[in-house]
Amino acid sequence: MPVHIENLKGVAFLAYPETLAFLKAELKQRFGLGDNARFNCYGDIVCLEDIEGIFSSPDPEKIAPQELPYWARTTLLKPFILHFDSIGEAAGALKGIQRNWAPYQYQSFRRASLIQDKLPYINLKPRKFPVEIPQSPIGVYTLIDDKTILASAVTSSFIPAGRIEFVEDHENPPSRAYLKIQESLTMARLLFGAELPGPESRCFEAGACPGGWTWVLVNLGSKVYAVDRAELAPSLMADPLVTFQAHDAFTLKPEDIGKCDWVFSDVICYPERLLEWIKVWLDSGLTKNMICTIKMQGEIDYEVVKQFAAIPDSRVVHLNYNKHELTWIHCER
Ligand SMILES: C[S@@+](CC[C@H](N)C(=O)[O-])C[C@H]1O[C@@H](n2cnc3c(N)ncnc32)[C@H](O)[C@@H]1O
Repeated sequence: MPVHIENLKGVAFLAYPETLAFLKAELKQRFGLGDNARFNCYGDIVCLEDIEGIFSSPDPEKIAPQELPYWARTTLLKPFILHFDSIGEAAGALKGIQRNWAPYQYQSFRRASLIQDKLPYINLKPRKFPVEIPQSPIGVYTLIDDKTILASAVTSSFIPAGRIEFVEDHENPPSRAYLKIQESLTMARLLFGAELPGPESRCFEAGACPGGWTWVLVNLGSKVYAVDRAELAPSLMADPLVTFQAHDAFTLKPEDIGKCDWVFSDVICYPERLLEWIKVWLDSGLTKNMICTIKMQGEIDYEVVKQFAAIPDSRVVHLNYNKHELTWIHCER
């Protein structure tokens, strides 16, 4: 059979392997798809054919990013099935649609890598922070068998297959949480055009111990006012860029801290408590940029998450380096 394309109805969401169950639960709870909803899945891709009444527009390309599931790393907005015989045919057909394609594979790995070799080069390697992600459209494809691809040229993320990995430093950071702030700052830059904290910046960090986030911020040259009940790693306690206060971060008033270019929180607390604290900071007018981890306990209350997402100039995302948590990013321009 010659190369043949079949457009699919609806959209398809790609989850991280560890969070596929959360994505499915979100589709049921947040989008009201009902306990009996069954999804057509290919690895970590969940296809949703009937999107009528679920989003504000029946045209997937017009769906606002915040309407899409938080637990999807990217969404295939115009999914299609490509039937082909040879690797050359598959690559040729994808190239004929657009330049950039990222693979997501859960099977047929060898065949998929032969197809990727024939496609124009894109950087799929771990990145060194800080990194700027180009805002070029990037498609996603996956082999669902040796002669069939599920793909979409239009996706909701500029990051290849919606997953960014960083080159890791196994010696210097005091915790692995440094990867989470590297990713969230990269997202703030990508989503809002935010300037990263730098030598002129003053940052406030709530729940900073042992100091992974503070370590990233001082490495960017920023001054950090770090608050936690426990001290940071000794190297950070001795760093002239760091001011540490042992305190409950939520009972400190923004007016006591003063103007900050960025405010961060990685505190483990109820989302409702975090939301209250965020509003106090935003009402104070003393910061325009905030990044906070929303820690989830048990079943997720999407009504509360919606309130984070509804704050103007904000996005709620699930990061590659998030665990059972979401990240709220706010940048006023
Ligand atoms: C997940 S850890 C933070 C890790 C840190 N971001 C890093 O990069 O190393 C959460 C921290 O929040 C602190 N914490 C919890 N409640 C707090 C509060 N009310 N005020 C200040 N710190 C708090 C805990 O002591 C803990 O060190």
